[in-house]
Amino acid sequence: MRFSTAPPPELTAALARLLDERSRRALAERTTRISALYRAGRTTAQAILDEDDALAYALYRLPATYAATIHALGRLAERAPDFAPRRMLDLGAGLGTASLAAREVWPQMDENVLLDRSAPFLALARRLAGESLAEARIIAGDLAAPPDLGPAFDLVVASYALTEIAEEKLDAAVDAAWSRCAGALALVEPGTPRDHARLMRMRARLVAAGAHVSLPCPHSAPCPLEAPDWCHFSVRLARSRDHKLLKGADAPFEDEKFAYLVATRAEASIEPAPARMLARPEVLKHGLRIKLCAAAGIEEVTVLKRDKQKFGPIKKKDWGDEVAAGETSARE
Ligand SMILES: C[S@@+](CC[C@H](N)C(=O)[O-])C[C@H]1O[C@@H](n2cnc3c(N)ncnc32)[C@H](O)[C@@H]1O
Repeated sequence: MRFSTAPPPELTAALARLLDERSRRALAERTTRISALYRAGRTTAQAILDEDDALAYALYRLPATYAATIHALGRLAERAPDFAPRRMLDLGAGLGTASLAAREVWPQMDENVLLDRSAPFLALARRLAGESLAEARIIAGDLAAPPDLGPAFDLVVASYALTEIAEEKLDAAVDAAWSRCAGALALVEPGTPRDHARLMRMRARLVAAGAHVSLPCPHSAPCPLEAPDWCHFSVRLARSRDHKLLKGADAPFEDEKFAYLVATRAEASIEPAPARMLARPEVLKHGLRIKLCAAAGIEEVTVLKRDKQKFGPIKKKDWGDEVAAGETSARE
């Protein structure tokens, strides 16, 4: 199931109206400063100091975090067509990126709780919510020690948020997220070796707490990948005119690398796919070489062109796609 990677038009229109009141050049300068800080591993608390910084983030960074998050949630919907969450908790919500993505994937969703501790993000999120996230509850708080938020949620998402949590608080943050989850917990993180390693630490903790790993892995056993290899995916997104302007970039698109994990409660468990493509298939003269994560571990398989029955369907697949048992030919 594929969803548009472009943020919803209501949000884009609301941002365009806010942008009209601001100097693009001043916002571009902010963008340069903010992106340098994020790239250097600084957190939102250090990078986003006022509402104009939050607006710059909305224009230059949110399109990529939105694209990665809707891609990951779309994978979850593809794996579990009957999963129909109505109540969602968005941890480290920022401007509500993950909630917006989830509403596109599950339009029946009618309760979104956004939790964040950044005053500028909370202020802008409240301004935007009327137009793009009607009826959302926007709450100030620490995701590692959240306030009472009522009954557990069908879906809990933390997108590009746990990456900002200090090592010593990470376990508490994962425990808090899991304790508020009655169905599926989706974690979306930057696609870097550091964030993959941290995600695997969170995965182990969730499994020890009884969680089932539903995506992207085919099992809940320890991850078989060994450093320097790491599991990540890629999503392509179009850049708007303002996005290019703020980034000082010419290319009409960018590729966002991300890592993700969906853990589910035993009673709402979602069966993982038998295997998933861990990289873009390598094109050979006589076929395709495919790296898979399968129940038995990491596999490199070659599908030959002459094996038309298998080659036809598999050549339509790409990095991150599920592969069913028997879809690939014999192991090399
Ligand atoms: C990079 S932004 C991502 C925002 C949004 N989820 C997205 O995908 O665009 C990280 C967010 O996590 C929030 N955050 C970081 N640490 C937090 C904490 N301990 N409690 C609550 N929010 C936190 C930041 O304030 C920020 O809004």
